Amino acid sequence: MVTVFSPAKINLFLAVTGRRADGYHDLVSVVAQLDFGDDLAAKAHERGAGPQFTLECDGAGVPVDDTNLVIKAARSFALATGWNERVAFKLAKRIPPGAGLGGGSSNAVAALRALNHLAGGRLAEDKLGGVAATLGSDCALFLNPAPVVICGRGERVEPLAGAALGRLRGRRVLLFKPSFAISTAWAYGRMAVRGTDYLASAEAEARVAAWQQGGAPAGEILFNNMEGVAFDKFVALPVLLGKIRTEFGLAPRMSGSGSACFALLSDDFVTAPLVERIRHDWGPAAFVKEARII
Ligand code: C5P
Repeated sequence: MVTVFSPAKINLFLAVTGRRADGYHDLVSVVAQLDFGDDLAAKAHERGAGPQFTLECDGAGVPVDDTNLVIKAARSFALATGWNERVAFKLAKRIPPGAGLGGGSSNAVAALRALNHLAGGRLAEDKLGGVAATLGSDCALFLNPAPVVICGRGERVEPLAGAALGRLRGRRVLLFKPSFAISTAWAYGRMAVRGTDYLASAEAEARVAAWQQGGAPAGEILFNNMEGVAFDKFVALPVLLGKIRTEFGLAPRMSGSGSACFALLSDDFVTAPLVERIRHDWGPAAFVKEARII
């Protein structure tokens, strides 16, 4: 039996730079993983009848069939290694789905790590990365538990330069999400239809490079050009983020394709009035969670 932590991520900088011939989008993003996430337990069990991989999950509405990325990841692992033990997964789900927090992709990587542990490390790190990249665009970033820059459709991952890393690690973050989710495919699809939200890749890369090499604080890199399509349809997002800017002097942003948002907080920031504002505007079903960048 092994339990693997499956962190959430936030996109501090997300520039979608254009649509590709294969229908995906190219992007440049600075992504940080958080000390908040799910726990995935994997237990090898006796040979017998039934499916090779099963999943139990305490999260309402989370599918536990073949459509869950944990099962997809396990199948890919078995295919890549020939390992044929039977494994029962248990997922303690805390990351809300449809949030832009990378929950499903993170779970897939956690499943690969758990199985590789149970299988005695059959899959070398580079091979594990190869399998992860086939499962979802956001999977590769979860292989290295530290802030990274991702490019391409998300599969090219580069570590952040040391000084920039120091400006992010340990930073306090408030995550908050309305009770509705946003479909990633819908958000990218809307960007493709509008065609006006893209940032040129040269400019995106130059902004990330300048921030990495200069000494600007974490707050200076915050950007997300997926906000346009999301904010047009889901007006509760820009309305609350605007209030948070003016009432609290913070610089909140949406993460990924939403609907979760976040704000970087100083260590002495008192969160109670902010949490009250979020719950007042978005209702008691809003998700609110404090975390730190790992
Ligand atoms: O790769 P993943 O399954 O997470 O992507 C979900 C959907 O989001 C894709 O089907 C695609 O429509 C869109 N997407 C995209 N460009 C990316 C990542 C995702 O267009 N870089």
